[in-house]
Amino acid sequence: MQALETTALVAVIGAGAMGAGIAQVAAQAGHPVKLYDNRPGAAAQAVEGIDRQLGKLVEKGKLAAEQRSAIVARLQPVEAIETLADARLVIEAIVENLEVKHGLLRQLEEICAADCILASNTSSLSITTLAASLKHPERVIGMHFFNPAPIMALVEVVSGLATDPALAKALHATSKNWGKQPVYTRSTPGFIVNRVARPFYAESLRLLQEGAADCASLDALLRDAGGFRMGAFELTDLIGHDVNYAVTCSVFDAYYGDFRFQPSLIQKELVDAGRFGRKTGRGFYDYSEGAERPQAAELTSATDVASCVVEGDLGVAQPLVQRLKDAGVPVIQRAGSGLLRVGDAVLALSDGRLASQRAKEDGLRNLVLFDLALDYTKASRLAISWSADTTAEARDQAVALLQRAGLKVTALADLPGLAVLRTVAMLANEAADAVLQGVGSAADIDLAMRAGVNYPRGPLAWAEAIGIGYVLNTLDNLQRSYGEERYRPSLLLRRKHAEGSRFHD
Ligand code: NAI
Repeated sequence: MQALETTALVAVIGAGAMGAGIAQVAAQAGHPVKLYDNRPGAAAQAVEGIDRQLGKLVEKGKLAAEQRSAIVARLQPVEAIETLADARLVIEAIVENLEVKHGLLRQLEEICAADCILASNTSSLSITTLAASLKHPERVIGMHFFNPAPIMALVEVVSGLATDPALAKALHATSKNWGKQPVYTRSTPGFIVNRVARPFYAESLRLLQEGAADCASLDALLRDAGGFRMGAFELTDLIGHDVNYAVTCSVFDAYYGDFRFQPSLIQKELVDAGRFGRKTGRGFYDYSEGAERPQAAELTSATDVASCVVEGDLGVAQPLVQRLKDAGVPVIQRAGSGLLRVGDAVLALSDGRLASQRAKEDGLRNLVLFDLALDYTKASRLAISWSADTTAEARDQAVALLQRAGLKVTALADLPGLAVLRTVAMLANEAADAVLQGVGSAADIDLAMRAGVNYPRGPLAWAEAIGIGYVLNTLDNLQRSYGEERYRPSLLLRRKHAEGSRFHD
């Protein structure tokens, strides 16, 4: 089965946010498109909305006026579902309700030709379940777009148990022709993105709950050190806590209460209070008029840095050394186990142990741990934490050193894995488990997280950059620290480390 020819009629059912966006994408790719909604007038309204959006692109010089009219001319709002009989592909984007979607698919079986593809844009329902009891379950497939569909590149092509593999290939190729970045996935809870992204929210929520720092500081760390577009609190405020919490609960329930997906009580409390985020004017942050946005906390030091000592190789954090040299700090290099010394302080990249625990176990006095950064040459902020016996002077010397490298320094309470390292380790862990369970390939999972939720790097490629062994050790330490199932390392990380093999060549 080939990609759909652009002459093939595409029908989109549901003219809400997603349906309208998908109809626009298909029409932009050259297909004639019929748009149907059971609310009278909704389809026509949606086409008018698309026309207005395209008008804005014309004003900005991003689209020719003739293209706009050609796209709109290909979009036909219809008021009767029977008029979809000649469609080659139907994509439904109606209300997220299994019975209603099931009813619609049954109705479509009666209306459409036997070889018409029936695709669902569902973000949480099982394609296997949706296809069950249909006469031709092999032609039912998920085509999961991201919001807003005309802008977000990712399409998860979701196969249920009965889906014809040739159909998945054809829709993958079709999505590519539509300018999208498709990935293959199996119908499992959350598919790729809504599963692998859970720790991004969960670890920040956990850090907040355990008093690591305030929301603004944690958000700033994920942005300025982690390279994420937004921190977890500002992002969930934008998504809506009602929606984000419901997704977490549905994935948690679907995996029979696997603790890795356990929802957060502090997010539940926001939902219970009606603080859904931006849309209600209040979430973790206050969006009412005149409300001040809290700033990230920052430690500063006026102490002079005469020189520092690098013992051994700092691993993924090695670029920090060049940054210090570039800032004119004399660096003395000697053999050792990856430590950075300044004055009385010993700095080390977190390995998932508490600072106080590591200080004791490794016999390190005045230990200051620092966090992972996506790119130590560019990060503008770094988190630190320190052991209980670290003196105020030593801490100040550590801050002064990092400041000299041009970094803002944000303190976290002594919690294992700091903020970015533990978030990235858990994202990689979830991604590895998804590969292990055949939810998607490593390449597709990394692509999905970059194209679907704008991660600066795929979690598995990131784990490789840090070192799979380092990530595994961090997770082992997190699990030991918490004594919780939640942090258990994926067998695939352990296997890859034992084999010395990689996710990507
Ligand atoms: P929406 O509420 O904006 O639009 C749904 C539309 O479907 C409404 O216009 C409604 O009148 C129509 N509709 C409801 N039942 C119908 C029926 N039986 N026949 C015909 N039309 C019907 O919802 P939205 O956000 O566009 O979501 C639609 C689907 O896309 C859901 O399955 C959702 O899970 C999925 N999705 C949503 C995303 C989002 O960020 N909003 C992202 C990816 C998927």
